[in-house]
Amino acid sequence: MNDRRFLFLVASTREPGHTGNTEWLARQAAATLAPEVQQQWLHLAGMALPSFVDRRHTTGTYAPPEGDLKALLDATLACTDLVFVSPVYWYSIPSQLKTYIDHWSGWMRTPGVPFKEQMAAKRLHLITTSGDRAKAQPMIDSVRLCAEFLSMGWGGVLWGKGGPPGAVQADDEAVAVASGFLMRR
Ligand SMILES: Cc1cc2nc3c(=O)[nH]c(=O)nc-3n(C[C@H](O)[C@H](O)[C@H](O)COP(=O)(O)O)c2cc1C
Repeated sequence: MNDRRFLFLVASTREPGHTGNTEWLARQAAATLAPEVQQQWLHLAGMALPSFVDRRHTTGTYAPPEGDLKALLDATLACTDLVFVSPVYWYSIPSQLKTYIDHWSGWMRTPGVPFKEQMAAKRLHLITTSGDRAKAQPMIDSVRLCAEFLSMGWGGVLWGKGGPPGAVQADDEAVAVASGFLMRR
């Protein structure tokens, strides 16, 4: 367990300095990791992510990424456990997280980057909040299928009832499940 390295990708679009429900819940979960376990937190909203371009059937390959996209690729490859800290937006994921996942299609085709092979050795966890658990299911299924496509392990979903900042703190069940959620096998 102690040699695991967690990358938390925060997808909320709350303004800087305003911690959303999903990040608050994720920080509860992260607080129960052993101190030796490495944690890296990245906020996608503050990163300059270029739109993905589908070159699969033209050039067929992708140049190594630069800037924030390179930082994201490097952080992704370096982790053992990837945690999507993502609210439900319109039954789906926020657009910045979708753009990040779209770039996986390029990283699979970037010469010298063993993306598929390395992703298959990682585990994907989802921490999410929204108004309604049942209606979060399409988003949860979509994320789980992305993990399955890359043969990643599935760490499961931690859902909490969100709303305005702080709302999830009243979801006793989510707060209880957060403890130990990231240690599950
Ligand atoms: C653009 C947008 C779309 C949303 N779509 C949904 C939705 O489809 N279903 C839902 O239950 N809540 C929806 N919500 C509410 C958020 O999921 C909820 O407030 C969540 O707790 C926000 O997470 P955060 O505080 O971490 O930013 C939406 C909120 C926004 C801003």
